[in-house]
Amino acid sequence: MIQPYQIENNQLTIGGVKVCELIGEFGSPLYVYHADVIRDRYNTLFHAIPYPHKRIHYAMKANSNLRILKMLLEMGACIDAVSLNEVRLALHAGFPAERILFTGINTKTEELHWLVSQNIRVNIGSLHMLQKYASLFPGSEVSIRINPDFGGGHHSHVITGGRESKFGIFYSQDSHYNQIPQAKNIIENAHLKLVGIHAHIGSGILEEGKFIDLVSLILSIAKQFPDLEFVDFGGGFGIPYRPEEKPFQFDLFADHLKNTMEKFTREYGKEITIAFEPGRFIVAEAGILLTTVTDIKHTPKYTFVGVDSGFNHLIRPMAYGSYHPIFNAFRVQGEQQEVVIAGYLCESGDLFTRDENGPKTRLITTPLEGDVLAILNAGAYGFSMSSNYNMHPRPAEVLIENNTARLIRRRETFEDMIRFFV
Ligand code: LLP
Repeated sequence: MIQPYQIENNQLTIGGVKVCELIGEFGSPLYVYHADVIRDRYNTLFHAIPYPHKRIHYAMKANSNLRILKMLLEMGACIDAVSLNEVRLALHAGFPAERILFTGINTKTEELHWLVSQNIRVNIGSLHMLQKYASLFPGSEVSIRINPDFGGGHHSHVITGGRESKFGIFYSQDSHYNQIPQAKNIIENAHLKLVGIHAHIGSGILEEGKFIDLVSLILSIAKQFPDLEFVDFGGGFGIPYRPEEKPFQFDLFADHLKNTMEKFTREYGKEITIAFEPGRFIVAEAGILLTTVTDIKHTPKYTFVGVDSGFNHLIRPMAYGSYHPIFNAFRVQGEQQEVVIAGYLCESGDLFTRDENGPKTRLITTPLEGDVLAILNAGAYGFSMSSNYNMHPRPAEVLIENNTARLIRRRETFEDMIRFFV
């Protein structure tokens, strides 16, 4: 697997470009993405699926930079979109409607009308919504999202299957809770054609067993529906954030997928397409957030290293207690110090090194004012979840390709931030 960074003369370089040059040219803080890493992860996943009819719907919520979308379009990707504006951005990037699957949440009637008018396939996740869709568009094609009564993920906030979850039409072995027969009734009464069955059980899953169970269960449900064109097993493949975590083992999962699909195809009597919806796996490792040290403070308990970024740029440590590896990009090795890396926002929780309970120290090469810290694995759910909290602008985004850095989104300005006030 291609790595996004190298260490040369004790300094971090990203795709062959020195961090000090990046900061000099584009300023700080800065999101930097390595194009070859994105391509490598897409290809890794594509080739790991041992089945000829497959589609990878990139979950653009992970990172919706237009240039990254265009790169994935060129590679043959499809799109998982969850809002109308995601659909519009995907169309704007050049994705044809038939390569977009819309999995909406609480979709409004007028939004359904727009999607259907644009020939976007709608994937429906509740009986109420299915009934609404059936009344508005009888006789049309549809796909349903199933909650298989189990989920997975790196944090409770991102588990999207099981009884605590708001997502999907509920499947259960207990007939009292099983909503599949009701879904079937709605579909038959309105002469809908059920062309797809979908499930997405959560995000940041490193256990292959969850996907093995999911494939078996979804295919057993799929057998009941004769008109299917695809089954979609969602996204959720994790990446190792912590040093002790192991990458997802695709070979274990692939063997099961191959056998189960072969059996399914024999029983079903025709070949259908399988789809996955990865976001994190494709872009997380390709992205690095660079931020400059501006303050250093000693308290009775910690040494806080203050930087020019915060949870307005990368919310994952604050939202989920997530761990991101952090280097001193100017001196990767040297005398080290246990520090807490603190953001520039007016909230105590604004720390890049923390867990769910609060601050956590990290051992890094002693930071000095002006050093640049590299926060790794920030390509997914980094920029896409950013905000203007405390009236701070969003950073610029840069893509590195062929050892050259190119601006792919300019830094926001004060004028950008005030232009909505009327
Ligand atoms: N498909 C659907 C319907 C989804 O809701 C999601 C993610 C994906 C696919 C892609 O999942 P992935 O492959 O990226 O794990 N902000 C959180 C993650 C939230 C994921 C939301 N849905 C985080 O930073 O960990």
